[in-house]
Amino acid sequence: MTIRITGTGSALPEKIVTNFDLQELVETSDEWIQKRTGIAERRISTGETVSTLAARACERALEMAKKTADEVDLILVATCSPEQLLPCCACQVQDLIGAARAAAFDLNAACSGFLFALNTAYAYLQTGIYRNALIVGSEVLSKLVDWSDRGTCILFGDGAGAAFVEASVGEVLRGNGRKAGMECLFQGSDGAKGAVLSCEERPVANAFLSTAKTGNPYIQMDGQEVYKFATKQVPACIQEALDKAKLAVDDVDWFVLHQANVRIIESVAKRLRADIARFPMNINRVGNMSSATIPVLLDEWNRSGRIKEGDRLVLSGFGAGLTYGASVLVW
Ligand code: UT7
Repeated sequence: MTIRITGTGSALPEKIVTNFDLQELVETSDEWIQKRTGIAERRISTGETVSTLAARACERALEMAKKTADEVDLILVATCSPEQLLPCCACQVQDLIGAARAAAFDLNAACSGFLFALNTAYAYLQTGIYRNALIVGSEVLSKLVDWSDRGTCILFGDGAGAAFVEASVGEVLRGNGRKAGMECLFQGSDGAKGAVLSCEERPVANAFLSTAKTGNPYIQMDGQEVYKFATKQVPACIQEALDKAKLAVDDVDWFVLHQANVRIIESVAKRLRADIARFPMNINRVGNMSSATIPVLLDEWNRSGRIKEGDRLVLSGFGAGLTYGASVLVW
């Protein structure tokens, strides 16, 4: 038994913010941002929320999978920027799309969130508890960004992506002889390095404390440490997943990586000795949308017909936690 992605969808806010717009806010330049990150513009919410973006992405994924909302068994939303602590975003999405039968909950593994949600759905579907799941990465990071900090505000964007996954009971053999579905996964965490990328929410405060602590509610990042972690850990975990599946780098058609920085992706390609043309990218248009980057890119590549049946994909995420992982699947 395995699982297959049978529909993808995405949703981005209307408003485009260019590097030139950011030049008006902080001391930076389009040239610096493009050279150091590969980003030219990003989408920023003017009212779209994590749940409304997620719901739109889910509706598109369901439409592609030719399923109705009342057929959905499970909704998993990966987010680190929900509007509300309660109820969780997945329950809001359930209500917005009318998936009354579904169980729904959120999961937070920052930029690895979509990947970890996919792996969680894999476990549920493999054990037969559910037959299908809507998995979503959705973020409105613009409210967590300190717009006076040029070290972080140039990186992030808002958006959502979703995938509909179904249990695949019989073998689905593709034209190239590969069996469609998830082949292997690897995921890891390093909580000891949590401080290099963090965002406080509510420090301890209650009626029995005389002085409440005040926290910094904005994203704080040691960019170079995150960079070092990503360029070392991502190729290592991709290699680990491929080894588990007894596959080589050359057996992979597409490496769909978390879009954090073009230089990180280029470095991963180099370390794996893989052609950079096999690493889809959209970071120049959308920036780093944390958990939403992988599903948005997957949807764009899928809808444009660049991913074909039988293609083997490696999805790999990394981010705050620190968290990292890779999943191998045949489309
Ligand atoms: O999902 C995971 C999220 N995070 C990441 O993936 C972050 C990974 N890290 C990175 O992408 C890079 O470290 C950054 C893009 C954040 C920074 O690039 P860098 O090449 O590591 O630059 P740096 O921090 O070493 O800074 C180089 C210089 C510094 O000036 P001095 O000290 O050399 O005079 C910075 O103050 O660039 C300066 N700088 C800027 N200049 C113009 C930092 N930010 C900016 C800016 N515009 N926005």
